[in-house]
Amino acid sequence: MAEKTPTPDERLQLEFNRWAEEGEGEKMERHHLNITEKTIRLMDLRPGERVLDLGCGAGWATRLLARLTGEGPEGFGQVVGLDVSDEMIHRARAASKDFDNILYVWGSAQQIPWEENFFDKMLSVESFYYYPDQERVLAELFRVMAPHGRMFILINLYKDNPYSLQWVDQLKVPVHVRSEAEYIELLKKHAFEKVEARRIPDDTPTPDDYQTKSFRSLEDLRAFKRIGALLLMASKPDVRNPAPGYTIY
Ligand SMILES: C[S@@+](CC[C@H](N)C(=O)[O-])C[C@H]1O[C@@H](n2cnc3c(N)ncnc32)[C@H](O)[C@@H]1O
Repeated sequence: MAEKTPTPDERLQLEFNRWAEEGEGEKMERHHLNITEKTIRLMDLRPGERVLDLGCGAGWATRLLARLTGEGPEGFGQVVGLDVSDEMIHRARAASKDFDNILYVWGSAQQIPWEENFFDKMLSVESFYYYPDQERVLAELFRVMAPHGRMFILINLYKDNPYSLQWVDQLKVPVHVRSEAEYIELLKKHAFEKVEARRIPDDTPTPDDYQTKSFRSLEDLRAFKRIGALLLMASKPDVRNPAPGYTIY
């Protein structure tokens, strides 16, 4: 019998399960911590908030989010980590046993298994460019974000950082390579408001004996970090309120 061709999400699942088995999920903390901490500071998280970590991998950032939204005078926050790789989800769960405000869910960003108008904040670290249908993901995010909910999408691979393009050919799954301007246009097209972009440089030092397979030289790696990741921020409008001059009957 002919083998069934895997769907784009199944391909991603297989590839990132392999990464998880090779311990890459945990190693990514080292590579992404600096830019993620800077982003989390901009998220202005408060106890009681509901946060989605989209493409959570091994869950290290999910745990940072959970600490900041746990218990407080304003209530008990909840963090949901979602990933298409079941192996990443297993590892994230195993490492988060001490947290009672995290739920890890195996699923696709293209079909977020969650209710409407739920999340106050959303973080996605180094995951968005893998999503086969980014427009569908934005439609899903529009559905699950709460009115005024704010999204923070960190992207290391984008046109305006030419050094990042050195590792596209090494990836075993297709990716989107867009520019900051193209991403802004996409977010606006999906009716998000307060759309902003920033560069988040990575200021961890690169030692002279550092081994890199992803970059042609250490100088290129340093230049990549100096230019930094692209952070996209956008809010869901309050669709419950009619625009001025309109009445909802
Ligand atoms: C480069 S890793 C980053 C993981 C984590 N955010 C971190 O920084 O350590 C990309 C992650 O996105 C997940 N991912 C890729 N495509 C996805 C999809 N369609 N839906 C949900 N997660 C996806 C992968 O399984 C992987 O864990």
